[in-house]
Amino acid sequence: MCGIVGYTGYRPAACIVVEGLKKLEYRGYDSFGVATKRNGLPIDCYKRQGRISEAEKAASMLKGTMGIGHTRWATHGVPNDVNAHPHSDCRRRIAVVHNGIIENYAGLKRGLIARGHCFSSETDTEVIAHLLEEEFNGDLVQAVQAVLPKLSGSYALLVMAEGDDRIIAARESSPLVIGVGDGEMFAASDMTPLLDHTERVIFLEDGDIAIITPGNVRILSGGVEVSRNVELIDWTCGDAKKGGFKHFMLKEIFEQPLVFSDTIRSVGVLPEGLARCNGTMVVACGTSYHAGMVFKYLLEEACSVPVRLELGSEFKYFTPPVTELVIGITQSGETADTLAALKKAKAHNCPTLAITNVLGSTVTRVADETLYMRAGPEISVAATKSFIAELAVLMQCVNHLSGGKFSEEIFRANRAIEEVLLLDLSAAVQACNIAKHIFFVGRGPFYAVALEGALKMKEISYIHAEGYAAGEIKHGPFALLSPETPVVAICMPGATYGVMVSNIKEMKARGTPVVVVGAAGDDELADISDVYIGLPNGGLMEELLMVTVVLQLLAYRTADSLGRDIDKPRNLAKSVTVE
Ligand code: AGP
Ligand code: GLU
Repeated sequence: MCGIVGYTGYRPAACIVVEGLKKLEYRGYDSFGVATKRNGLPIDCYKRQGRISEAEKAASMLKGTMGIGHTRWATHGVPNDVNAHPHSDCRRRIAVVHNGIIENYAGLKRGLIARGHCFSSETDTEVIAHLLEEEFNGDLVQAVQAVLPKLSGSYALLVMAEGDDRIIAARESSPLVIGVGDGEMFAASDMTPLLDHTERVIFLEDGDIAIITPGNVRILSGGVEVSRNVELIDWTCGDAKKGGFKHFMLKEIFEQPLVFSDTIRSVGVLPEGLARCNGTMVVACGTSYHAGMVFKYLLEEACSVPVRLELGSEFKYFTPPVTELVIGITQSGETADTLAALKKAKAHNCPTLAITNVLGSTVTRVADETLYMRAGPEISVAATKSFIAELAVLMQCVNHLSGGKFSEEIFRANRAIEEVLLLDLSAAVQACNIAKHIFFVGRGPFYAVALEGALKMKEISYIHAEGYAAGEIKHGPFALLSPETPVVAICMPGATYGVMVSNIKEMKARGTPVVVVGAAGDDELADISDVYIGLPNGGLMEELLMVTVVLQLLAYRTADSLGRDIDKPRNLAKSVTVE
């Protein structure tokens, strides 16, 4: 996966492309590159390993009013200068940027080498440039049309060539959006690079080829010209800026009260498939999977509607018998495993529902119906406000399905989130930032929150963290407990309070420091804890939200105290668009 940006118009393209790539770095950031073109002159190209910020000046110097660029998350070939995109043909007359994987590249490459082509990189992408070289005779559209049927796999492509004044874009299973300006056009992997320039966008469909000039976009599908709606986006460019916060993650955590209430208000009548379901299956990955797990506990408890839960990556290959509504939860709407699971569910004739944050994302085309969260663009790789927005959609669904039992609580829950944003977590941070391993434990829906807390901690602090159902700790992990391995225990009032207190005492008896998240004013619990974080009173949904936010902040502050690269953790990318 990666981010791609293209521009053609009347302004210097390189600056616009570089600025755009900076906004897409969350999709990949191991290397980057830009190519620009001026009439009648060879294509200029600058590419290198590392972050854009390290060489942004040099890249912005390229001349020309037409350009394409790429920020990479390597799938084929190590991150280095040569493997960075754009890729070129033997004569360097064609430049290609690509998001996705060309699955049959090895065979294509052997054929091209046999026909005399010389390759510079180890990437799958480079075959596209050489195949285009064989087909290009002054008409880039015709060349692209001839090459695409030879490729299998996934791609969002932008292509430029000497001797043709158009940028050609093509999409198959990887996202691509066109931004429509006045006398200028943009293309990008998602909307964030476009927000500074236009609010008018066209979402390309799989199989589309777009022919882009400064004044016009034509779209071909199956060889014939088609029209696609120009949609207005309601995200603003301020949404994609840090706004005085040290990191996007912190900004996004602080946006959560607003995101939660906006999303709660936006979920109106439930889609029919959900409103009349007797049972459902959720498929999702990572943080979205944890949101699905919270939903399972809440819906089963409130409405006795059974919810099964599967990881997207497992569902496609190990599909359980399924006939019920399948709900895919995906912030980005582009996660390959979740998309594959939904497609599989459709192949089994199941009704499908998507829950996503991104208008026009692929999942909205795959699923029968869509519920949107209102989180705005999430830039930090670690999902925070999108998790809260997923919970908002799911809690509102539980509320509707239970006949409005939770209306009062969910409409005031934004205030509960607000109340914990400024809690002093310094003692908990000190307990965590010296550790090599941390366990997060909870029961019921707090087990799901413990899993999410552990995921946040590991991905941004690089401390090994594991979420566990508190009752399971004795069945093995106890062997790992020691004064160097703290446990973060969620112990809220309710049915499992007593057994959680016993678990905490058992862990303390092994010399393990325990950071407890519980209710404010619970002095007895505070007394047995090494560090106690007391939360205001609230209903179960409010408690779940408050504990989530505390664990997000604990991960953030711990990672910050260790000087980690919080918004762009090593080896990760925000949208995992390959299986
Ligand atoms: C969590 O912080 C990660 N960003 C990751 O687990 C993420 O939730 C997962 O890749 C799923 O993404 P999606 O919601 O866009 O499908
Ligand atoms: N498969 C291509 C590569 O490895 C593109 C990866 C991406 O989407 O960033 O270079």
